[in-house]
Amino acid sequence: MCGIMGYVGPREAAPIVVDGLRRLEYRGYDSAGIAVHDGTALTVTKTEGKLARLAGLLDEHPVAGRSGIGHTRWATHGAPSDRNAHPHTDPGGEVVVVHNGIIENFLSLRETLAAAGAEFASETDTEVLAHLIALEYDGDLLEAVRRAVGMAEGAYALVAMCRQEPGRMVAVRMISPLVVGIGDGEMFLASDVPAILHHTRDIVVIDNGEIVDITADGWKIEKLDGTPVERDRLEITWDAEQAERGGYPHFMLKEIFEQANATTETLSGRLLEDGRVVLEDVHFPPGFVAGLDKIWITACGTAYHAGLVGKELFERLLRIPTEVGYAHELRYSDPIIQGTTLTLAISQSGETADTLAAAGLAKERGSRLLALTNVVGSTLSRESTDVLYTRAGPEIAVASTKAYLTMLVGEYLLALAIGRERGVLDPAIDATLVAGLRGIPAKIGEALAAEEQAVVLAGRFAGRDDVYFIGRGLDHAVAVEGSLKMKEISYVHSEAMPAGELKHGTLALVTEGTPVVVVITQGDVYDKTVSAIQEVKARGAFVLAVAYEDDEQVAKHADEVLRIPRVPDVLSPLVSIIPLQLLAYHVAAARGHDIDQPRNLAKSVTVE
Ligand code: M6R
Repeated sequence: MCGIMGYVGPREAAPIVVDGLRRLEYRGYDSAGIAVHDGTALTVTKTEGKLARLAGLLDEHPVAGRSGIGHTRWATHGAPSDRNAHPHTDPGGEVVVVHNGIIENFLSLRETLAAAGAEFASETDTEVLAHLIALEYDGDLLEAVRRAVGMAEGAYALVAMCRQEPGRMVAVRMISPLVVGIGDGEMFLASDVPAILHHTRDIVVIDNGEIVDITADGWKIEKLDGTPVERDRLEITWDAEQAERGGYPHFMLKEIFEQANATTETLSGRLLEDGRVVLEDVHFPPGFVAGLDKIWITACGTAYHAGLVGKELFERLLRIPTEVGYAHELRYSDPIIQGTTLTLAISQSGETADTLAAAGLAKERGSRLLALTNVVGSTLSRESTDVLYTRAGPEIAVASTKAYLTMLVGEYLLALAIGRERGVLDPAIDATLVAGLRGIPAKIGEALAAEEQAVVLAGRFAGRDDVYFIGRGLDHAVAVEGSLKMKEISYVHSEAMPAGELKHGTLALVTEGTPVVVVITQGDVYDKTVSAIQEVKARGAFVLAVAYEDDEQVAKHADEVLRIPRVPDVLSPLVSIIPLQLLAYHVAAARGHDIDQPRNLAKSVTVE
């Protein structure tokens, strides 16, 4: 899990590569480095720590050269350190490599090389690749890389340069993402589009098992077996500004405030004026929906929490049995999946290794695979039979917000589409969903007004060690996501559970002043949730409720209320999550944390 960046062209490479790495830091940030070719020699500069430290080193000791590669690391093999930072070279410094992912057989490769006398400067799997490419090199970098990766097993992307061929980069994709950017007399290469968006919108996505040969004048893609590949270019329509913070102190806050627009985008052209739903990349064969007997949702983290909302919706509205499973568990289980199952794999990045594996298992067992993902051209989207893109735009903050919300929107659209095709959707519910979804961007805008109150409340939470989140049904699904937001950026321990579960154990932890956040929007279980509030209040808890603006009862029970605009109960997750995101953000800010890059985490978990 790392970020890779490369440049070849007429300009100085180092500033371009470092700038690209800055936009990829969300992929990992425990060390960083670059290698630049000045036409004669390769110079490597690298260091443990964030990119700012590398930039400082380069200010002190600038490196000149018109081609370069760089890397921002999230450690997998070898602790974060200067020597384990990328790029890595062979002992002679002839070949330089950056790499994202894992070489699974690196130990045996390393032992073989060591037995032949090789000495290693790091503990990484990447260095093994540099050795292998150098050993295979006989004047053609492309062929040397091809032969070297033929010996490696794993899921990775790599880029190599060599001293003898200035102005040439060779890259390979084996699962981990890689895109090429086409400029005017210059070429770029990166793990993700935002890294190169300031230079070009003209993108080519490299596919699994492909090798790409890049010079300033062009690129050539082949399969690893040498078969030439023709690949269409993609025009990226994201605004370059979208990939920047746009004046907000953190990407997370910016992304929270982008949610109304993101929702509009996700609905656009899909929920038509006349109420029809058109999902452009979902093409279920005739009879499939009618014969559907199970929906199997698989995902991790926040995407899994979106799946919890999906389960409630699909079971309640469609009466189709729906299971939600963590992808990392399901990939090693023996799930009951067949041709009449629809597998919904949810992933912002579309690159999460566990989700890809679980999705692959579903396909193997004959299930139709529908990807709900934010990244066009991601591995998940390409491996799925059907795709529903969330259109949230680039999400940079590690803590997912707008991607989550647009995943929910995607699930509502799916519920409408499937429910209508099966003829099971109650017409009144259908009309409620259509009207409600149309109005949801405006409601999200109103919900964002909770920020002022969230800032004040954050002061109460910032000094606490534990927070509990409760709710019932859809409110529980949202509480779980609110709890994850809290813990991942504020580092305050938090737990979520169905409100009725408290009394079965967790209530023992509630004492004077314990903060309990209660999501209370579902009319059918309203009184039951009030009972849970009373249970914790009786033990001295400080209760913060998230409730509709016109709920006059809740203030009698809770200490504080974060208000959300009234929407139909079935749509409440689309607004009730917003105050929880804002609360988590401001608690983390009050505690002075690095909000966009929380400790120990990375945006895309592309390793198991
Ligand atoms: O890219 P994905 O949606 O597959 O990522 C899954 C999780 O790693 C991700 O949602 C993670 O839990 C977020 N950092 C939570 O904010």
